[in-house]
This record gives sequence, C-alpha cells and structure tokens, in this order.
Amino acid sequence: MKKTCYVTTPIYYASGNVHIGNSYTTIVCDAFARFHRLLGHDTKFLTGMDEHGQKIAEAALKKGLAPQELVDLVAGETKQLWQELNISFDDFIRTTEERHVKVVQKIFEQLLASGDIYLGNYEGDYCVSCEAFFTKTQMKEANTCPDCGKPTRVVQDRSYFLRLTKYQQALLDYIEAHPDFIQPATRKNEVVAFVERGLEDLCVSRTSFQWGIPVLSDPKHVVYVWIDALANYLSALGFYSDNDADYQKYWVNGDTVIHVVGKDILRFHAIYWPILLMALQVPIRFKLMVHGWVLMKEGKMSKSSGNFIYPHEIIDRYGLDAFRLFMTKEMPLGNDMVFTYERFFEKYNVDLANDLGNLVSRTIAMANKYFNGQVEKPIIHPLDVELELEQLAQEVFENYQSAFSGFRFQSGLMEVWNLINRTNKLIDETLPWDLAKDPLKKDVLNSVLYHLLESIRVIALMLLPVIPDTAKIIFHELGLEESDFSTLSFGLTNTFQVVKKARVLFKRLDIEEELKFQASKQTPIRKTSPIKAEITIDEFNKVDLRVGVVVDAKHLEGSNNLLVLQVQVEDKIRQIVSGIAQDYNPSQLIGKKIVVVANLKPAKVRGAISEGMLLAASGDGLPFEVVELQNHDSYSKVS
Ligand code: MSP
Repeated sequence: MKKTCYVTTPIYYASGNVHIGNSYTTIVCDAFARFHRLLGHDTKFLTGMDEHGQKIAEAALKKGLAPQELVDLVAGETKQLWQELNISFDDFIRTTEERHVKVVQKIFEQLLASGDIYLGNYEGDYCVSCEAFFTKTQMKEANTCPDCGKPTRVVQDRSYFLRLTKYQQALLDYIEAHPDFIQPATRKNEVVAFVERGLEDLCVSRTSFQWGIPVLSDPKHVVYVWIDALANYLSALGFYSDNDADYQKYWVNGDTVIHVVGKDILRFHAIYWPILLMALQVPIRFKLMVHGWVLMKEGKMSKSSGNFIYPHEIIDRYGLDAFRLFMTKEMPLGNDMVFTYERFFEKYNVDLANDLGNLVSRTIAMANKYFNGQVEKPIIHPLDVELELEQLAQEVFENYQSAFSGFRFQSGLMEVWNLINRTNKLIDETLPWDLAKDPLKKDVLNSVLYHLLESIRVIALMLLPVIPDTAKIIFHELGLEESDFSTLSFGLTNTFQVVKKARVLFKRLDIEEELKFQASKQTPIRKTSPIKAEITIDEFNKVDLRVGVVVDAKHLEGSNNLLVLQVQVEDKIRQIVSGIAQDYNPSQLIGKKIVVVANLKPAKVRGAISEGMLLAASGDGLPFEVVELQNHDSYSKVS
C-alpha cells in the first residue's frame, strides 16, 4: 500500500492580498507536497480561505461590499495567485462552503452535548485584527494587542465556552509523549511554558456580529472564527459527511499529517486545535511545523503599514522559480528572514545564473560539440574524480531526502548546491576541451560528459519540488522524460540525446541597475509642478466622475509606463490608457473599482485610443490626487 501524506497551509484570511511574507507558508507546503509525490506517496495538499469573522465583516464594510461579495472576490484572486505561483494544491476549502459549515455546526453540537462547551458570561479584551482574546496580564500597555500592537476592544457577551482547563494536563502529557509534535523544539517549549502558566476556558461564540456560522441550537450566536477555521483541516477530508473515506485514509490511518503555520498562529494550532480534537475524541494525527516571518528591513511585512512586496513584483521581472528558490533556500527553519533585493539579486546571480545555469549550458554545448548531442553510458572504468562525484551524489541523495522529510529545505538545497558545485569542479579538473584534442582520449571525454549529464539529471530531479518549471526544462534539454525518486541514483541513464542549444535559464542580473530600478519604484523620482490656478465649483462640475470596474488590463506594447485598461462604466466598456504601470500590476487591477473622468475627449496615447481618464494614486504632492482602488486599504478616499 502506498504511504500517504496530508499537508496543509493555514487558510488565509479573505480580507486582503497575499504578499511575499505570507506566500512563504504556501510555497514551502508546495515543495513538501511535490517531494512526497516524487517519493510515490499518495499526497493531498490542502489550502483555502478563512472567510468568516469580524475582521472580514469590517473589511467588507470598508470596501462597500457585502461580506460574501468580498470573500468571493478575494478567494478568486487568491486561487489565481496560487496557480500563478505554481502551487499544486489538491483542494481549496472555503469556510463559507456548505461542506465546511455543516461540519462546524455538528462539531459544536457534539461538544455542547458532551458538556465540553457550556454557556456563560464573557467580558474581555479582544483584538479584531488577530481575532483573539487577551487577558489583562497578556496585554501591552494602553490595552494594545501583544501580537500586533493594535488597540484591543472590550467585548461583552453571553457566550459559549470551550473547557480548555479540563484538557490542560492532557495536552501537556501529549506534548511530552510526542516530542516531535511541535517543531522546532523552541516553539514547543514556548507552548509548554504558556500552558503551564494556566489556561482559561475559551469563549467560542459571538452575538455582537452575524458574519459567521450560526450555532444550530442557538442561532443568534455565531461560532468563534478560530474554531470555525481550524475545523477546515477535517471538513476538507469529508469528516462527519456521508463520505469520509479521505478522513479515514489521510487522517486516521495516514502516515504523514503536517500542518504548516507561521509563529503568529502557533497558540491556536498547538493548544486549541489538539484540545478540540481530544474533546471530539478524534485522534491527534498531525505534527506542527512552525516557521518564522519574512521581514522587511523596516520590520514585519504588513498591509496596513504598506511595508510589503507583492509576489508579482518579483516574479514578473525575475521569474517565478528565482522567487520560489529564494524563499525556500534562504529561510532557515523556524527563524525569521529579512528580505532585501540586494540579497535576492546576489543569490540569483550565484545560485542560478552562475552555478546551475552555467553548468547546464556548458555541458549541453560540449555534448553537442564533441558527440553531436548523443552521449552513451561509458564502458570504461570511471576516473577517480568521477568516482568522487558519484560518491558525493549518493551522500547528497540521502541528506537531501532526510532534510526535506523534516522540512529542513534550506539544508536539503545546500546539499543539492554542493553537488552542483562539485559537478562544475569536474569540468575544471578534467578540462574536456583538452581531452577533445587527443583522439585516444575519446572514451575518457565520453565518460566525463556522461558524468556531467547524469549529475545534472539527478540535480534536476531533486529540484523538481522547488523549481518545477526549470527542472522540467532541464529534463527536456537532456532529452529525458521527467521521473520520480525511484530514479534518484547515479548511472541509470543509457543514452542522453540533448537539445541542440540550451536556453539561458537565468540571465545574469546587473545588480546595480536592478537596485536602481527597485529604488525608483519605492520613491518614484518624478518632477513636481506648481499647483494650477484655482477653478470654481461650476468648472469642477463639468468633470463627470464615474465609478467603473476594470475588466481587463494589459501592458501597452513598447511602453514601461502605460497600461491599457478595459473599464466597465455603466453598461459600456471603455478603453483607457493610463500611466500607472510602475505602481500597479495588470493582474492586481482586474475586478477593482476605479474613478473615471467619463467626459474627457477621447485621445490617442502612443497609438492606442483612450476614452476617459483614470484617477489613481501617485507619489506625495504630485498632480494626481484622487485615489479609490478597492482592496488598497491605505487609500480610501477621493480627496
Ligand atoms: N486565517 C488564519 C489561519 C487560520 S488556519 C486554521 C491566518 N491567516 S493569514 O492570512 O493571516 O496568514 C496565513 C499564513 O501566513 C500564516 O501561516 C501566517 O503565519 C503567515 N504569515 C503572515 N505574515 C507572514 C510573514 N511576514 N512571513 C511569513 N509568514 C507570514 O493566520
């Protein structure tokens, strides 16, 4: 029977966009899922959307949308982004789906019936942003949230409570008996210390707002969003449904069950979730992998402070795999990482353009030059340096597999780069261009090239989980079908028939140029002009401002600045050419509402007709002032 693997990301809040920081969780889960598939395991990779709660309700209100409209929009955008990031999820669960709602309601009723949930009175300090309660001792000065620093609110409710206190000791016992339950160990120690200080029963329902799953037996209450959200890991498996085969296969009888979470949501997963499972008498089958944060120089990435980078800002210019590799290889397990473009560019040039890219292109060029593209498995005894390479490859396979199984992607990838560098060294040691001059050395040259190509094959195999597109191109260039880890051993290929010319996988970056480009994006250097002469209200009234929806957006060919937008205004689609390409990606704009000067005389801009003008944000004090891009929290008003 095949082994199984169930790996989950947290379900993302449907209140906003994904930045490179929170995309990290999903990228590493994807690498893990792909790794298990290559091992031949029956793998299910789950991600999804956390769509209920006060935070979402308030975000919707701010944007003038119904909560359901907002979550539909964000779920669509997020799913699309995951596809663009090559995330191989098998299921995308949304907490507003019926399959989930029903399960949460059943769980709640079962716990009510068993007495693990009871009705009581609540008054406490609540952080809407983190959807969490805090005790007076946990809070910072001036009643601010200890996690995000925002002000908390006093919430009073007649509410249902989950008996955490009853399970406090059982949880500590479980953690002690399962030392690898929470990884890395520093996070486990944090949880143990927290629980030992004493738990309080958890308030698990609300009456102060409606956007949640109603308690079946008392529908004026909605279920606390974290209880709702955590249940996704089971509802996606068909738990408590007519068909719970996946629950039985991946959970009850599963081999590997991993929840991956950032350190900010450790408490919910390491305390509430196992206690809920204990109360439900469901076996605790999961292990928790807790990672750190991707930071900017200025601190934690956050949408509200504007201190973040969207994945598209990187992948549109430097490619998806450069981004995926950087995130996976540079983040040490459990610790934080500061993202800087300087480091990204350096790693891009060294790891990708030099080490990997050059190895592949040089080797393919030599295979063509000396063997017309066809290299057979050698019959002569390998050179000592070739034997060394084979031996290293064997060690790398073992270390890589053990590192990836334990979520230590950074060390696994360092192993792969050891092999890449050792393979490059083989070229320097054997000097194939000299061997080629001597017809008697043809066999030796053949053996060297075979070793180079075979090494590239196994390197590509090990890179498949992390940079699948690039690894596939390499397989194609070697003239091979992509395969799985059953072929992760040296010397399995009989014949390589490589392509005539390898493509440049990663073009070397001019770091200075790129840094300049990024700096100009952050603080656009544009000339300001004096404020124009006053106009009267009557003059202003001549301008017909309408709200339109962007239905399509593309770059104008040959221009760095201009986007061509198709905007629905009333019942007509207009084309508007706008100079906002430095600030917005086309894909970000689709579905957004914008303000349009609807009665501006149509004009040709760089050959494209423009029927109106878009009013959008630009830098401080610059001539355009009007901003209303829905989903951009920081800009909300037409000034
Ligand atoms: N909705 C909850 C999860 C419920 S799971 C039952 C939530 N969502 S989130 O959208 O805020 O976060 C999604 C993931 O991104 C979490 O793992 C979180 O820890 C992670 N990150 C958020 N900001 C991050 C960084 N700056 N860096 C790395 N990960 C970060 O939490």
